[in-house]
Amino acid sequence: MKALILSGGKGTRLRPLTYTGAKQLVPVANKPILWYGIEGIVAAGITDIGIIISPETGEEVKAKTGNGDRFGAKITYILQEQPAGLAHAVKVAQPFLGDSPFIMYLGDNLIQSDLGLFLEKFSAQAVDALILLRPVANPSAFGVAKVDESGRVLQLIEKPKVPPSNLALVGIYYFANTIHNAIANIQPSPRGELEITDAIQYLIDDQKRVEACQLEGWWLDTGKKDDLLEANRIILDTCLESSVLSEVDDESKIIGRVQIGAGTKIVNCTIRGPVMIGSNCYLEHCYIGPYSSIADGAKLVDVDLDHSVILQGAKVVGIHQRIVDSVIGQRAQLTLAPQRPKALRFMIGDDSQIELA
Ligand code: G1P
Repeated sequence: MKALILSGGKGTRLRPLTYTGAKQLVPVANKPILWYGIEGIVAAGITDIGIIISPETGEEVKAKTGNGDRFGAKITYILQEQPAGLAHAVKVAQPFLGDSPFIMYLGDNLIQSDLGLFLEKFSAQAVDALILLRPVANPSAFGVAKVDESGRVLQLIEKPKVPPSNLALVGIYYFANTIHNAIANIQPSPRGELEITDAIQYLIDDQKRVEACQLEGWWLDTGKKDDLLEANRIILDTCLESSVLSEVDDESKIIGRVQIGAGTKIVNCTIRGPVMIGSNCYLEHCYIGPYSSIADGAKLVDVDLDHSVILQGAKVVGIHQRIVDSVIGQRAQLTLAPQRPKALRFMIGDDSQIELA
């Protein structure tokens, strides 16, 4: 069994963060989203992992993630020159996959469940494809399945205007080698991509065995800001362990589960967990509220922050209104003049969103 993780694409829905980096490297609880997928795959006992990368962000993904040693896996990087669809990515990866069955994992998906449970079902039943489904409120944004009373998949449609059900296709699939023939037989969709959804539909039409499991527990497709904040909240809620490896002065109060990395200095702050703060940060006279993650090298002075994600090297100084539900990009600076400001002065990147709420 092998695994294929897709970490290409342009990440348009997370702009502007994705102008300068891969969407799969955006951190959730200070760890790249992609790494959760790798860890989940390794935990299911699969260590031969291919990662699809794009020309735009591939080098960054490679440099950050490495050859797999840190995960106890062997990672092979596979370049997909064009974002020509998920099924196209499988085609490009065929020399790596050979005849092996594999898990295909979309690198911006996070699920609570253990991948090994579905793997057991996939292997025991010797099916051609096992897909995961989950009810969602907005099925038109996903691939959608029509199933009969016994849960058998009758039809799959990619981003239907009129969805036949509320069951979305989760971005994690288990395939036998028969998927390659299916992919060879499909045509590009109206959006010009070879859709994996159409390839699975081909298997169904060809009387192959396609099974579905309903996913219990949470599923996050971290493609947008609010999904990212939600992923951050859930991971901090479920996985964070307290550990303070840095200097905290006597004026500061640390309440609840809080993790602080080495080399960070905390001066006169109140931090109410769950909160994660990276290494080499400087925080002075701040209130940091629950469900916030602050990445390495950030500087926060005179700030009241809640339910937000601050990326590496960002600087936030002297903002006296509470900052909530925010994502602040790498090296971004948000500062206030020492006197009461009479004007707002901005240098804001393309596609940024500023809401004076
Ligand atoms: C892709 C698939 C879609 C699936 C979704 C899950 O959509 O095409 O069927 O439901 O991932 O994350 P995309 O994110 O490429 O729009």
